[in-house]
Order: sequence, then structure tokens, then C-alpha cells
Amino acid sequence: QAAEPFSVRMPVPAVARPVGRTEDADLYRIDMRPSQVEILPGKTTPALTYGGTFVGPTIRATAGRKVRIAYANRLGRPANVHLHGGHVPPESDGYPMDLIADGASRTLDYPNRQDGATLWYHDHTHHMEAEHVYRGMHGFYLIESPEERRLGLPRGRYDVPIMLRDAHFDADGGLILDVEHPEARSTLLANGRPQPYFPVAARKYRFRLLNSSIYKIFELDLGGAEMVQIASDGGLLPEPVPRTTLTLAPAERAEIVVDFSRHNVGDKLVLSDAGKPVVRFDVTHRADDPSRIPDRLRTLPPLPAPRETRRLKLAVAPSKMAYAINDLTWDPDRIDARVKEGTSEIWEIYNADTVDSEFGGIDHTFHLHLVQFRVLDRDGKPPLPGESGFKDTVLVRPGERVRIQATFDGWQGKYVYHCHMQEHNVAGMMAQLEIVE
Ligand code: C2O
Ligand code: CU
Repeated sequence: QAAEPFSVRMPVPAVARPVGRTEDADLYRIDMRPSQVEILPGKTTPALTYGGTFVGPTIRATAGRKVRIAYANRLGRPANVHLHGGHVPPESDGYPMDLIADGASRTLDYPNRQDGATLWYHDHTHHMEAEHVYRGMHGFYLIESPEERRLGLPRGRYDVPIMLRDAHFDADGGLILDVEHPEARSTLLANGRPQPYFPVAARKYRFRLLNSSIYKIFELDLGGAEMVQIASDGGLLPEPVPRTTLTLAPAERAEIVVDFSRHNVGDKLVLSDAGKPVVRFDVTHRADDPSRIPDRLRTLPPLPAPRETRRLKLAVAPSKMAYAINDLTWDPDRIDARVKEGTSEIWEIYNADTVDSEFGGIDHTFHLHLVQFRVLDRDGKPPLPGESGFKDTVLVRPGERVRIQATFDGWQGKYVYHCHMQEHNVAGMMAQLEIVE
């Protein structure tokens, strides 16, 4: 059913244009609506979208300058929007029970008082988020900071966001949400097209990789070619990390620079996931390259002294077939963690779904709203390459114990944390913190 690999070109999602500007904010309008999109060549796929395209419009924001987006819901069902990785007030966070009714509009405020980073927005409607995101409610939100611009990294058309995910299609091109067999017969998509090719010049490119899958972990390589990781979820790493393989769990981002000047015009490099092609980069021409990768990218602020340590156990609840955090499933009326505004905490996340547990090993990806955290250690050992900067989502393998530290500032109110394997959070693996005075 899937097309031959490399038969379509990878598009770059369109950048949204502001509908207005004030002194300190850019204003946008995005319609949430059903749309007929082309994913598989020659077939039409019914999708749920932001702005009519399967990968929604890219918002390009500048650190320190606000963005306000008026979302109009024309989906025929309630839905909402979460800015994943965003440091935003609770009313604009897309709390799972805070929905925009069908036919209604809501303006959300994104202050962008945070570092330059590759964020993304997606639906967070409780019980429906996996399905909504799966059917297309996802897009990029890129924050650029002036300091970052001065580094001389590849820019403009050489700075390309790539959304990776999988999907299952029926014979007509319709999307099948198969929770029982999520990895079966899946087609890999890059920016909403199956295994596309992408023409590149023989120079450096910055690729902002996002895994928007609701379940799938990508194990990426570029056929042994070097991918220099420069950023993770929350922005630039302290220094570049050269690598040949890269694991990207659902909702994680990794930014890499690939130098195609090391290759000849006519060469083709395939980005693969465990041997399965994802995108092919075709070196088609030469080009000047004034860009560079500095040895130092940024200085991270020192970690403040933690006020508290919390322990979280992620596991299938023994009594019921539900996913739970500390044996409790999601309850909007319960506050699971009260955090004092402005304080820093260590959270130790333990994945108790070990390989020898009743259901076998299950991977979880822990995501915390509002903050960017640092990974302190994994099973007492130093974090993995690429985890030296800020993160908002972290993969916790079966039996692993990962310690993170976050500082909770900005606003008081309720924010959720959950597993970003979206079938798990739909089934209860979500809890909430309240930031208090
Ligand atoms: Cu990307 Cu609570 O989600
Ligand atoms: Cu999980």
C-alpha cells in the first residue's frame, strides 16, 4: 500500500503570517478544522488540522516578544491547544479539561520569555489527545533568540524543521488508529509525506527534528555520516555533540547540523530509523556557506539548591488495565504535587514496567509542562549525549531511574505532567501540580 520510498519531495511547513502587530506582540489566527490532505501520493486523507494542513503552520517567534494566537474551533467537536515546551500562564497552557467548544474562539498568550528553542503545539483534549494528534493536530513553534542569531549557525532556508512520525493507512488513504498494534505496518512520515527525498546544497544545514508520534520511538542514523547535535527540547546545548546515532522519543526534539560539503554533488544520504528509510537528502548543487558551528554554544545557568525531592513511579496499575503515576490514574480534582513558586525541585522518575513485569518492558517518556528541566543522572550514571542542556521530555526505559531538576517559576496555577506515549496518558498516566505562593 505504501508508495515506493523517495517518490515525493519533503515539503517544509509554511510559516504563518501575523494578522496584526502591536508594540510588543505578534497576533495570529489559526482555524482548527477538518481538512482533506495529501499524504500518500494521489490519495486523499481526512485529517483534523490547525490551519488546514496536516503539519500545521509554523509559528516563528522571537525571544522576549509576545505571540497571541486566536484559535477558532471549526472541528465539530471540542479541542484545545498546548504549546509543548512553552513557558506560559495556566490559562494559555491547554489544560486537558479546558477546551474550546465547537464554534468558539479563544486567544492564547505566549510570552516567549524563554530561550530560543524548537517547540511544537498540539491538541491536549483529555481522552482524545492521542487521536487528535494522530489525525494531524500538530505544528512547529520556533523561538529564536538574538544571542543565538549571533552564533552564525545555518539560517533561513538552511534551517529546516522536520516532523517525524508514523501512521497507518487503509487502502483509500484513511488514517487508522491502531492502539493494539501501534508498530504494525506503519508508514514513516517526514513533514507529512511518506519517506520523501529532500534536495540539499553541498553545505551545512540545521535540521530541527521533532518526533510527534503518539507511541513510536525513532532510532535514527544517517548511514554513518556525522550529525552534530546542537540543541535539545529547551534550546542550545552547552557545546555541540557529534554523533552518528540519535534516539528520539515521542515529543522530543533534537537539532542537528549536517555538513553536506563533505559529500559530492550527486550523493544521496538516507536518514533511517532502525534500517527503515525516513528521508533521503540528495546533494544537488554547490553553494557558499558562511555558517559555522561554534565550539561553545551557550553557558547554562548553575543549578539552584533544590527545596524538595519527589519520587514518581510510572507503571501499569496492578489492579486495572490502566497506566498510572504512583499507582494513581488521572483525576482533575486531585492535586498530586504542590510546588512553591520560584523553588527548584528534584524529581526522580522510575519506570517500574520492567522487562520481567507482568506486561513486559514498557518505555515511558516523561513530560512536565511549564518548565524546562535538566537531566541529572540515569541510574546514577551521567545523562546521555544530547541530554546536557534543557529538556521538557525524557525517555525512561523499563527499570530505569532518571533524576531531573526543574525550577518552577512564572505563574501560580495548575499544570499537568504525564507520559507522552499518548496512549498511556489517555489511559491515566497523567497527574497535576499546583504552583502555590
Ligand atoms: Cu506535548 Cu502535555 O504535552
Ligand atoms: Cu508511558
